[in-house]
Amino acid sequence: MKNIAIIGTGYVGLVTGTGLSELGNNVICVDKDNKKIEKLNHGEIPIYEPGLAELFKKNYAKGKLSFTTEIQNSIQKSEIVIIAVGTPEKEDGSSNLEFLNLVVEAISNNLNSYKIICTKSTVPVGTGKEIIKKLSKKHVEGEMFDYVSNPEFLREGSAVSDFLYPDRVVIGTNNNIAFKIIYDIYSSLENSNGIIIKTSIETSEMIKYASNSFLALKISYINEVANLCELTGADIVDVSKVIGMDHRISSQFLNPGPGYGGSCFPKDLKCISYLSKSFNTPMYTIEGAIKRNNHQKKRMVRKLLNLFDGNLNGCKIAVLGLAFKSNTDDVRESSSIDMINGILEEGGIVNAYDPIANDSMSHIFRNINYFNNIYEAVNAVDGLVVMTEWDEFKSLDLKKIKNIMKDNKILDTRNIVNMEHLSEYGFKYDNIGRMKL
Ligand code: UGA
Repeated sequence: MKNIAIIGTGYVGLVTGTGLSELGNNVICVDKDNKKIEKLNHGEIPIYEPGLAELFKKNYAKGKLSFTTEIQNSIQKSEIVIIAVGTPEKEDGSSNLEFLNLVVEAISNNLNSYKIICTKSTVPVGTGKEIIKKLSKKHVEGEMFDYVSNPEFLREGSAVSDFLYPDRVVIGTNNNIAFKIIYDIYSSLENSNGIIIKTSIETSEMIKYASNSFLALKISYINEVANLCELTGADIVDVSKVIGMDHRISSQFLNPGPGYGGSCFPKDLKCISYLSKSFNTPMYTIEGAIKRNNHQKKRMVRKLLNLFDGNLNGCKIAVLGLAFKSNTDDVRESSSIDMINGILEEGGIVNAYDPIANDSMSHIFRNINYFNNIYEAVNAVDGLVVMTEWDEFKSLDLKKIKNIMKDNKILDTRNIVNMEHLSEYGFKYDNIGRMKL
């Protein structure tokens, strides 16, 4: 059991903090956002994350999890300080390390005893070394601190189970004592496959970018195959299923869609691309994946336009799904933003619905219509677009929808709506890379 301070209470900080308290540690979560900390201290969780509330309540009640804005005190009384602040992208694709550097300064000013300084934030390769350099100006490495890179692999929407049942835990450090201390806090997650891996700091930093980039590459690749399927008469669902049966490829992240979004893939791909160029070794595969993704988002709008013979002027379209995927209320870089912008630019009207992301999207689009259920949103619309893979969109009551829609056009960007039913009820429809019935 360790005393741990986590600096930054966003998605990663909050899930990691809660998870580490569940593993038996005393965790103080620190954030400079007063309102957020106040809410957390009243048991209000600022993000939607399945399973988080239960763990939060349990460990908060036990006194194993606490929240504060007091960074100095929190650092001083902790044995491990975890940095989990945001590292947003700059315009040139590089990472903005402004918040991280402020935290490092605060750590340096409050290093009153030996501590492990651990970075969870996604940071460019080489950042760990820089942090050590900064801390070493005032403190002796090995005596007052050791440094560890410990990247997160948490998916929004399943972050709690990703934390508690990880595929791998990477501990990047050059120091065996630091490795042992961090190993101990995760040791109950270790299994016979040996999922806790020790690497160098740089290797650990690189693993994070290489993992996310590879998954994004897979998505852009399957999106391109899907687009080619449409032109050649092949069916992407079968293609994807069968190539995924090859264990060397694996079936995950082979679902074509409207383009990846979220706070990680778009930013991390730009960052690794920036890094590779700064070493004069451009990564053409990554550049290709980014390009495909931007095209894919635009392609979805063109598909909708095609269903309307090129004219959306005055047409009312229901957009089902606003977040960048299901099970989250996060709309950052969501393809739905491009879709809504595309419809509005073409003179259309948007009826929007998401089971949990209406509120987040209303900060981006104030003047579109928001609805609290599917059937109100599709009432009297000319067309409907499915943008995310929520279960309730997989089981749309198409008979009812056909009766209440004004016109009969459906674009399914996730290939989840039953094509037999679409044909049976006389919809004019399109999806991604499928052989139409
Ligand atoms: C991603 C990674 O999956 C996590 O391992 C990582 O820890 C996290 O980034 C991070 O760096 O913090 P996340 O951004 O939550 O997690 O979302 P994913 O589930 O990976 O999905 C990303 C995007 O790809 C979504 O827009 C999703 O709809 C899309 N996607 C995913 C597809 O279009 N097709 C697929 O087959 C899978």
